[in-house]
Amino acid sequence: MDRKVRVLFVCLGNICRSPLAEGAFRKLLRERGLQGRFEVDSAGTGAWHRGEAMDPRARKVLEEEGAYFPHVARQITREDALRYDHILAMDRENLREVLRRFPEARGKVRLLLDYLGGGEVPDPYYGDLQDCREAYWTVEAACRAFLAHLEGDGARGAPPAGEA
Ligand code: 4NP
Repeated sequence: MDRKVRVLFVCLGNICRSPLAEGAFRKLLRERGLQGRFEVDSAGTGAWHRGEAMDPRARKVLEEEGAYFPHVARQITREDALRYDHILAMDRENLREVLRRFPEARGKVRLLLDYLGGGEVPDPYYGDLQDCREAYWTVEAACRAFLAHLEGDGARGAPPAGEA
């Protein structure tokens, strides 16, 4: 039997953007009946919020979208870097930090928005609820494109240009 595809979303604090992306991707998998084929998690490059629940605004947005899931913030580990097949960073700083600490992850680390034509997910941490909603819509669209890419439909879209 094929093993599950392992996907890890990474941001700085693991309380806003990467939980939003994890929730969006989990919802997408549920809708497609694909949950059993994937192992999905998220982590932060920083440790400040380790052990905390997600940001209340992120929680509210995920609840609005029917995408909420229980989450406890954690920091990315070397084990993650070895274990996951796809490590999807929200911004370039996250990506650089993952590769600086875990060079062995090279080739598996990308910006999530590479699947949506490029760019970074703006950090809604210092913004408001609407910024959080917009971050969700962005990561949700990128998760759809990522899944399409995995399903072999990526040739038409934009397979990630640069190697991390
Ligand atoms: P996230 O947002 O990386 O999307 O979870 C942040 C959360 C916390 C901090 C910065 C960004 N912080 O500086 O504590």
